[in-house]
Amino acid sequence: MPDAAAERQLSARYPTDLPAWKALKAHYREDMRSRSLLSLFARDRTRAERLAITAGNLYLDYSKNHVTSRTLKLFASLAKQAGVPAATEAMFAGAHLNVTEDRPVLHVALRSKISDQIALEVPGVRDIWDVLTRMEEYTEAILAGRIRGSTGKRLTQIVNIGIGGSDLGPVMAARALKPFWQPDLSFHSVSNVDGTQLADLRRELDPERTLFVICSKTFTTLETMTNARAARIWISDTLGAEAVAAHFVAASTNHSAMNDFGIHPEYRFGFWDWVGGRYSIWSAVGLSLALVVGFDTFSRLLAGGRIMDQHFRLAPPEQNMPIVLAMLANWYNNFFGADTQAILPYDNRLERFPAYLQQLQMESNGKSVRSDGKPVRCETGAVIWGEAGNNAQHSFYQLLHQGTRLIPADFILPARSSGSDQAQQDLAIANCLAQSEALMDGFDGPDIESHRRHAGNNPSNTLLFEALTPETLGQLIALYEHKVFVEGVLWGIDSFDQWGVELGKKLASSLSPAVSKGKPYAGSNPSTATLLSRIRAHRE
Ligand code: F6P
Repeated sequence: MPDAAAERQLSARYPTDLPAWKALKAHYREDMRSRSLLSLFARDRTRAERLAITAGNLYLDYSKNHVTSRTLKLFASLAKQAGVPAATEAMFAGAHLNVTEDRPVLHVALRSKISDQIALEVPGVRDIWDVLTRMEEYTEAILAGRIRGSTGKRLTQIVNIGIGGSDLGPVMAARALKPFWQPDLSFHSVSNVDGTQLADLRRELDPERTLFVICSKTFTTLETMTNARAARIWISDTLGAEAVAAHFVAASTNHSAMNDFGIHPEYRFGFWDWVGGRYSIWSAVGLSLALVVGFDTFSRLLAGGRIMDQHFRLAPPEQNMPIVLAMLANWYNNFFGADTQAILPYDNRLERFPAYLQQLQMESNGKSVRSDGKPVRCETGAVIWGEAGNNAQHSFYQLLHQGTRLIPADFILPARSSGSDQAQQDLAIANCLAQSEALMDGFDGPDIESHRRHAGNNPSNTLLFEALTPETLGQLIALYEHKVFVEGVLWGIDSFDQWGVELGKKLASSLSPAVSKGKPYAGSNPSTATLLSRIRAHRE
């Protein structure tokens, strides 16, 4: 196993000490800081064709960025000097790149073929295809009505109960792939702990037709277990305690907890500790998605992920889409001082994609300590945010066009409608193109009143594809996964742990008795103490 070598590679040097980083710093100061995007286009008529990459079904136009040929050469050098190619191979070989949890990082194996031979010696990897086969048999049995609810009715209302990676992936992908939903099936989700989602759903669901998919890597997560127990009470109350086994199925790495909850042995779908929550859509966590879109469609999503994996592994850094996206993000983040990045999809079916990418990018790379335990010396994960299409235009684009901040944007654009109305998608396309053009070109001149001026010069990428198919969605997800990976390698951080979410969880569990049972507050924070007494006053 190349673990030790891979770890050394990751923590060998601070990126700011690398020659390419230093050269980029000088290049930024001397050449790029004050050079406009319009001037870059003016001096190179082939720029739009040249600064583009095709990978699988995706076409990336990154010409509207503050880069020249020299910048791109330095990006490629930086990726090499930071050890990105070696770290990539280490990931595919099953090295323990998740150093703080001492685990391999093998979501790429989940969408591989066994003949790809990805880390087959790592425990669990050879079981991937058995679990997929069981998922296929199960989804087909549900869809064909061979497995039914306790009263003999078909299970047609699928409810995913999970949170974070056990919610965002299935929810985002189920919305994105709505045209692929099986007839009669519906998809719902419950994630937040406050109980309102299930309360609202109970009004529209028929318990006899409802299948709850409890999705939790650990099967201990407060939100998920609270909601799962509430759902179990609802099924028991409406159909009887013996009905629970027929209305619940689960995906988890915690087999004994699934057992304790009362999940029928045949309805337990396992995965492994080397699948990070935010990288788990490709595993049994995708079960609720597979149920609603059918297993063939789910397999096409996996196939799309594999296409991007092959591109990422084989394409040279300067033609490698995830590497180029990561280097551009780092360029704005660490050299231009941009704190955030906007994700702007022009297909409403991708409306949860920005939220999905928030967890993927911010939970992975929101770190200030390196894998070797030392503090980082550069900015790490940017704030990711966004909204679909024209809704975003009528909300926050004002700030993009005329605000004081530099906000690089990724436009995500299907050429064909994922619905039935191409004329309406044409309007979305025209708007998307108009926005990236306006952001870059601006609108300025001596005769224009100051409040009407658009300074322009705002950078953006456009990710164009023919249509939002399962394969394309798989490629998009894997593209950003690898972009996050490259950033993490560059910054020397562990992109696969999430210790930063633990403190709040711990405090919440100790605060819970003070909130609900009126017990004394055991902490020492004066603001919390005051808020608690106000909350109690509201209850009296
Ligand atoms: O937010 C923290 C986190 O651990 C995520 O990484 C994960 O996706 C989510 O909680 C849910 O965890 P689980 O799948 O174990 O319920």
